[in-house]
Amino acid sequence: MTGASDEILLDVENVSLSFGGVRAITDVSFDIRRGEIRAIIGPNGAGKTSMLNVINGFYHPQEGRITYRGRTRARMKPHEAARQGVARTFQNVALFKGMTTLDNIMTGRSLRMKRGLFWQALRHGPALAEEIEHRRVCEEIIDFLEIEHIRRTPVGALPYGLQKRVELGRALAMEPELLLLDEPMAGMNLEEKEDMSRFIVEAKLQRGMTVALIEHDIGVVMDLSDRVLVLEYGRRIADDVPDVVKADPKVIDAYLGVGH
Ligand SMILES: Nc1ncnc2c1ncn2[C@@H]1O[C@H](COP(=O)(O)OP(=O)(O)O)[C@@H](O)[C@H]1O
Ligand SMILES: [Mg+2]
Repeated sequence: MTGASDEILLDVENVSLSFGGVRAITDVSFDIRRGEIRAIIGPNGAGKTSMLNVINGFYHPQEGRITYRGRTRARMKPHEAARQGVARTFQNVALFKGMTTLDNIMTGRSLRMKRGLFWQALRHGPALAEEIEHRRVCEEIIDFLEIEHIRRTPVGALPYGLQKRVELGRALAMEPELLLLDEPMAGMNLEEKEDMSRFIVEAKLQRGMTVALIEHDIGVVMDLSDRVLVLEYGRRIADDVPDVVKADPKVIDAYLGVGH
């Protein structure tokens, strides 16, 4: 895969995170370059989701530093991360099940809405003009993700694979710089995985997005990623381009060899 630059968008240095006595992450360092697809893999409980939660400010590590766009941060809250261009999807889909596809994707625009809900409710004057622009962005994303046929369907009524796609749509609606995807293909069939892979690559190549991707399907990971970080029991055991990681005996033992 090409498209990545040398600029470091996110730098994680010596991060450790524990919950009471449980060490979720131990002294992990890695970076994400602008424009790359950066996979994070490892067995269940390796600390992958925790790492995304550290990056988007949901968890605060006891040790280490996070530098995003050249600014080192002590503490950041999730909404601040969102304002600075970090968007994410969740391991378990987190959408408003009773709302339509379009309305769920519109919620991704809320941080960008200048007029408050009062004005939005009046659907009048400047608020109306702004809403029309937000809708245009969302319709374009719906087009991009090929989900026109379900734009008016409540997401609770959709099969799981499509819900994952809507969740990606909501994240894209934020027009983020850094997109954090936690197992976006879990529970999908082959065709759905191929579609999702294509959208992720296009988000990178056409929309200039930088992506951190947690994924269990090794074939997908090796196909899509520029570089792969491998965690085991909260520690970094490998970090390199796919071909090198694939051949690393530590990785084969810890992860690829599972079940052998
Ligand atoms: N909120 C939490 N409270 C307590 N323990 C947690 C919490 N989140 C994660 N953990 C623990 O941290 C470790 C890493 O979990 P997680 O980051 O979810 O791993 P992965 O996503 O790689 O499966 C596990 O042992 C998990 O039980
Ligand atoms: Mg996880």
